[in-house]
Amino acid sequence: MPRTAIVGTGHWVPARVVTNDDLTELMDTSDAWIRERTGIEERRWVESGTTGADMAVRASRMALEDAGLAASDVEAVVLATLSPDHFFPGTGVFVARELGLGTAPAIDLRAQCSGFVYGLQVSDALIRTRQYRTILLIGVEIQSTGLDVSTDGRDMAVLFGDGAGAVVLQATDEEGRGVLSTHLHAEGEFAEILWGDAPASWRHPRISREDFEQRRIYPSMVGRDVFRHAVTRMPEVVGEALEANDLGTDDIDLLIPHQANLRISQMVQKRLGLSDDQVFNNIRKYGNTTAATIPIALSEAVREGRLGRGDLVCFTAFGSGFTWGAALLRW
Ligand code: ACO
Repeated sequence: MPRTAIVGTGHWVPARVVTNDDLTELMDTSDAWIRERTGIEERRWVESGTTGADMAVRASRMALEDAGLAASDVEAVVLATLSPDHFFPGTGVFVARELGLGTAPAIDLRAQCSGFVYGLQVSDALIRTRQYRTILLIGVEIQSTGLDVSTDGRDMAVLFGDGAGAVVLQATDEEGRGVLSTHLHAEGEFAEILWGDAPASWRHPRISREDFEQRRIYPSMVGRDVFRHAVTRMPEVVGEALEANDLGTDDIDLLIPHQANLRISQMVQKRLGLSDDQVFNNIRKYGNTTAATIPIALSEAVREGRLGRGDLVCFTAFGSGFTWGAALLRW
């Protein structure tokens, strides 16, 4: 059975930098509050007119170039986002169209902050069962247009950013390379702890004046509950992945946790007993870009020379749903 290797990485973030100080002009907040609680210093927000597909295409082109492959080599697209450009169809078909992928299938996946790890499991299964040899896996998010940037929405608005990350996955028979295992979980009991209520297909019409008036169009979160579950579930599922492969935390060369909040990542690191050089964080520059955090961080880690052939890489994520997961791979 072939294994799945990441043969190319890429990312793209909008040029517009929004600093914490910029946010103080929109809402009652402060650079100190945001830094202390989240570790975020700035984030990127799209200019009006930039679509998620635009960002995903740029990240994908970078990943394809890195892999030394042409778009025509891609046999399927798996795209994770919670902020599709349209209610339907999914963003994947727009990306495939722009890249000129002909009739290659586009699988859009909704697992919020865990989207990339969920997408990796789906892609890995498709590659290992020889359905496809080469898959483009993308995480992309436009959060900024959905946030309440007044003081009423400050608890959420300061956290999120926009961006895209992509990886090219390919079947490999190379010894000691590729995805070792992926481990996913979900617990719908907590669906409303972190969610976007509207638009809602079960209400008629799907979006109404009341949705605006009652602020249902904005995401909402019980921050402390999210924090508590995130710092429990991520170490737990990393442990599950290590155990499945008979490995220990010392074996991890680089952990790339979902960039939800620096305090969450630090707590996960502490609970796993990892050193600073075993963990990669870049939330300071981009905020939480949801499904895009891991592929953006991976792309940056690669370009910073943090990964060498054979290194043990671990991804872990936690987010709305709740959903969470981890993946282990040999670089
Ligand atoms: N600026 C200034 N003050 C604020 C802001 C803000 N942006 N947001 C909230 N506050 C105020 C609150 O109104 C509250 O004021 P009060 O005491 O007068 O009522 C005070 O700050 C404390 O608010 P808390 O919500 O109790 O703040 P807490 O210390 O819990 O920190 C935070 C909030 C950072 C969201 C924290 O709960 C957290 O880290 N949660 C994890 C959630 C997270 O990071 N989610 C990311 C997305 S989900 C994911 O990706 C997994």
